[in-house]
Amino acid sequence: MTDKVNESRRNLLIATSVVGAVGVGFAAVPFLKSWLPSERAKSAGEPVTANISKLEIGQKLQVMWRGQPIFIVLRDKKLLDTLTGLKDRLKDPESEESIQPDYAKNLPRSKKEGLLVMVGICTHLGCSPKTYSEIVPQAFDADWKGGFYCPCHGSTFDISGRVFKGSPAGTNMVIPPYIFVDDDNLIIGVDSLEGGA
Ligand code: FES
Repeated sequence: MTDKVNESRRNLLIATSVVGAVGVGFAAVPFLKSWLPSERAKSAGEPVTANISKLEIGQKLQVMWRGQPIFIVLRDKKLLDTLTGLKDRLKDPESEESIQPDYAKNLPRSKKEGLLVMVGICTHLGCSPKTYSEIVPQAFDADWKGGFYCPCHGSTFDISGRVFKGSPAGTNMVIPPYIFVDDDNLIIGVDSLEGGA
């Protein structure tokens, strides 16, 4: 059984493409460098691996998967605590109308509550929102609790990607399938080591 799991995992890792971090300047994991995918492989939508070992609270790591930016944001208790008090301000607080795997249909919209893994595309017309993870007043919201702001038409999202009322975007941002390989590495695009998104 263990051998079978290890073999599946090895095959999956070999098939997994890797992209570099954007935005916070993380160094790619050296042993993964040789697996950098071809442009053809990237466009085909193969899973991608992200290393989060250097991610700090409030920072965003960005990788590309299926031509889409994937935001990976580390949240501390202070940021997570903001999620409980926003219900009345949100369009879809329970993510009933939004897209996410079952394991992310929860308040933090994640597998590990501190780590958000999300398709960084506004659900209005497809711009990529900017990350504002500090809990400080913003020009677009004097009561800002941390989250994402889309400059195209002003949609705002909390730190779980849930859309605020008053935004032109209708649903929360999408959560992709992903798994953790270990504490520092995850694969985006699959739900299990057996493969399949
Ligand atoms: S595309 Fe984001 S608000 Fe319109």
